[in-house]
Amino acid sequence: MRNLIDILDFSKEELSELISVACDIIDNPDKYAHACEGKKLATLFFEPSTRTRLSFEAAMYELGGNVIGFSSAGSSSSSKGESVADTAKTLSCYADIIAMRHPKEGAPYVAAKAASIPVINAGDGGHSHPTQTLADLLTIYREKGRFENLTIGFCGDLKFGRTVHSLITAMARYDNINVVLISPEELKLPSYVKRDTLKKFNIPYEQTTDLEEVIDKLDILYMTRVQRERFFNEEDYLRLKDTYILDEPKLVNAKKELSIMHPLPRVNEISIAIDDDPRACYFKQVLNGKYMRMALILKLLKEV
Ligand code: CP
Repeated sequence: MRNLIDILDFSKEELSELISVACDIIDNPDKYAHACEGKKLATLFFEPSTRTRLSFEAAMYELGGNVIGFSSAGSSSSSKGESVADTAKTLSCYADIIAMRHPKEGAPYVAAKAASIPVINAGDGGHSHPTQTLADLLTIYREKGRFENLTIGFCGDLKFGRTVHSLITAMARYDNINVVLISPEELKLPSYVKRDTLKKFNIPYEQTTDLEEVIDKLDILYMTRVQRERFFNEEDYLRLKDTYILDEPKLVNAKKELSIMHPLPRVNEISIAIDDDPRACYFKQVLNGKYMRMALILKLLKEV
């Protein structure tokens, strides 16, 4: 039985297969409309979500399946002290596959050990978010047509931004990738992510606090929100939250073919004036996320 806990659980070839299936779903939705008939997805969300939870639900419904679950820890028996492992064992009695978001790093791994059905990590604390990476990879593929020969800038909260950790991990396996890390000193990429990805795969990278200084060299700019919920101190959050606000003047020196990505939700870090710029891809990422989650559910339920 396969799970998706970390993006490295899938080989590059398997990621390519998922992208192929997602593209086929986009072109031939009717072919998949009954693929999961009689199957149930359990969405166990111990932390807030709009895109991940609802795209998983839309994905399962569009595959002909059904959905059960909860959208907050407070409405589950975890509020009475039930463990993640017992919750996973319980849902294994009711559903065929679990998507779990949890504020504690490693919780979906614990659930996968206890469950008798596939478990998908839908975001664990400040650690990783592999299904956002699936959405990001399909977006890069559709925008750029390749994963090689790209200079990618990651900007904002690189310390707590789990989508950044997962996407860097995925991209480190492709050829001729250059990474530019743009963050305040306090929100730099954790050293364990650098060690296990950039250093391990000899990816050239630079670190800077100045977005405008590097924007001209980027093929992809991946903006992120400062993750208020992970801060210990509200004062630090307020001081750092608006460090980077991407607006039209900041894009003056950017490439015409730049792809501007953001996992969303957005707070202030991209001006809404940019939404109409043809380089803005973040709402395409939202839609791509649904297609990749459909492909993922099919793969883990062995329906493709
Ligand atoms: N990108 C993302 O995970 O969004 P949600 O928190 O709304 O699921």
